[in-house]
Amino acid sequence: MTHIRIDAAIGPALKNFSLPENLGFGSVMSPIMASCTYENGKWGELELIPYGPISMFPNAKVLHYAQEIFEGMKAYRVGGLGPFIFRPDENHLRFNRSAERMAMPHIPIELFMKACFEVTAYSSDFVPRRSGESLYLRPFMFATEEALGIKPSEKFRFMVIASPSGSYFSAGGLSVLIERHGARAFPGGTGYAKAGGNYAASLLAAIKTKQLGLVQTLWLDGRDKKYIEEMSGMNFFAVVNGELHTPEINDTILEGITRKSIITLARDAGLKVVERKMDIDDFISDIKKGVCTEAFACGTAAIIAPIDYLAEETGERYPLLHQEGKIALQLRESLLSIQEGRAEDKYMWVSMVEPKSL
Ligand code: COI
Repeated sequence: MTHIRIDAAIGPALKNFSLPENLGFGSVMSPIMASCTYENGKWGELELIPYGPISMFPNAKVLHYAQEIFEGMKAYRVGGLGPFIFRPDENHLRFNRSAERMAMPHIPIELFMKACFEVTAYSSDFVPRRSGESLYLRPFMFATEEALGIKPSEKFRFMVIASPSGSYFSAGGLSVLIERHGARAFPGGTGYAKAGGNYAASLLAAIKTKQLGLVQTLWLDGRDKKYIEEMSGMNFFAVVNGELHTPEINDTILEGITRKSIITLARDAGLKVVERKMDIDDFISDIKKGVCTEAFACGTAAIIAPIDYLAEETGERYPLLHQEGKIALQLRESLLSIQEGRAEDKYMWVSMVEPKSL
């Protein structure tokens, strides 16, 4: 069993923290974090320490060559139940897939789970209790070797921080820019990995999206700018002819755990799910003909967020939500009811965390 050293300063850090009323997403932080370093080919001791600044040398490789990966997970504690962590095994598998792509070491499952579960256990009092709220867990790993040569780092740090969070988006449907020019990912690249650099690459388009008065960017494939891929931090779904359609996974799309779960739940609810190449222009004509009745974004942070309309840079808009996002909202409820422990967990997706205090 993986050992964790509990720093003596954890007690006061926990005692001095209180949960603010307004949470937002990802800015209020739990006062503790887990940390473990990798050197000489092996992981060292896992520690639980107070949340605070980390120090590294200015020539640490992550600061120059972006050798960094992360995960997003949630712990729920609604209606006196939980805390429950949703599908952490999937996050662990994806973390190691990202690690391989970015020339970083695997994290053993015991180390990954111990870090996530201990941070959650000691943060139990700070898991917000309203439906849709959660403790957002952010495991991440970065290269710390002090050297400027472009070579894979031989030293790394793995950490887990946690943020008591409300919803990612404010109320209302999303407005989405179809990005016809830039590219987020390319075949053979890093698009399928949860690497910080992929998100950095999306930020210029995020500025343009915001300047156009829109909220999210919809990426097309990098080569032909023809097929819908994903939305930077979310996957894309649409209801077409009463069926649920989503871009098929390839190495330029991050395979969301929420995406995977939605596919399972939709099939259980009798919906036909089609994973396919989605040509953007055919899709727009499906919207215009009324064949496409809904579209939504999904992800750990976003859960399921209905899309109000897609838009071009020219200002042309393709409105959705003809049925107030009925299927999106039904799927959101079936997913959340499992995550929050209100519904039968027939796939054993949810793991209970035993609260701890000092
Ligand atoms: C998540 O949903 O966990 C994400 O990683 C998306 C975003 C907040 C980066």
